[in-house]
Amino acid sequence: MRLKLNKLLGRGEKKEYPVPPAQKLPGHIAFIMDGNGRWAKQRGLPRSAGHSAGTEALREIIRTCSDIGISSMSIYAFSTENWARPADEVQALMKLINRYFLSEIDELDEKGVRITIMGDVDAFEEEQRSVLLRAMERTKNNQGLKLNIALNYGGRAEIVKAAQELARACAKGEMSPDQIDMDALSGHMYTAGQGDVDLLIRTGGDERISNFMLWQSWYTEIIFEPCYWPDYNRQTLLKNLNQFAARDRRFGKVKEK
Ligand code: IPE
Ligand code: IPE
Ligand code: MG
Repeated sequence: MRLKLNKLLGRGEKKEYPVPPAQKLPGHIAFIMDGNGRWAKQRGLPRSAGHSAGTEALREIIRTCSDIGISSMSIYAFSTENWARPADEVQALMKLINRYFLSEIDELDEKGVRITIMGDVDAFEEEQRSVLLRAMERTKNNQGLKLNIALNYGGRAEIVKAAQELARACAKGEMSPDQIDMDALSGHMYTAGQGDVDLLIRTGGDERISNFMLWQSWYTEIIFEPCYWPDYNRQTLLKNLNQFAARDRRFGKVKEK
């Protein structure tokens, strides 16, 4: 039904873009998948229909990132602030997330995707938490795309968590405060061992970070893509990757000619 609906409505960018050369691709792409609600409203559908349509887009984007050899992909699925939405929307989102994991896990595992949940999973109900933890456990030795899924995630909360873990290690005498440096903090983020975010894409037209990956996006290139997330497709991603490939990243330095 959902698939049919998407086919009927046609989804997103039609023009074809080439895959940029491997050395021009970002190692780590992050997505703020925004605009599901407005996509649905535009069609006179409930917001939850927008979230369902968003999962179709997500499937296509994960496949594409995996196929073109992206090393890490992070997606913002549910923020610490999203709990404040109407109860029926939160409930619909939780159901959808659960269903998504159950229906996708076999294909993701087969493709060698390694799943990391970013966020405090203790806030989820027992059954849902176990689905999330099982997905991480099952894929932990996979060698393909590292897929970080932000659920009950906040960028500030992640930094607080890292600071607490380091403070605890100091209190136990396992390290000294002088050993707390940027690498130590990076090592206590959910993305430990992965590179910083090279490219952050936010759909939906709003131009803000909304508490996503504050630590990892220090020199991130940002693209604000106006289309709503359910309309984002492989070709929109390839367009954005070509935009990224054309950017001049200086990291505070002066570029040598
Ligand atoms: C993003 O779409 C998905 C989640 C926050 C879970 P929204 O639900 O924020 O959609 P808009 O921004 O209201 O259109
Ligand atoms: C960011 O979108 C969160 C997710 C995409 C999960 P929001 O819709 O929650 O953010 P704001 O309210 O527009 O900043
Ligand atoms: Mg939104």
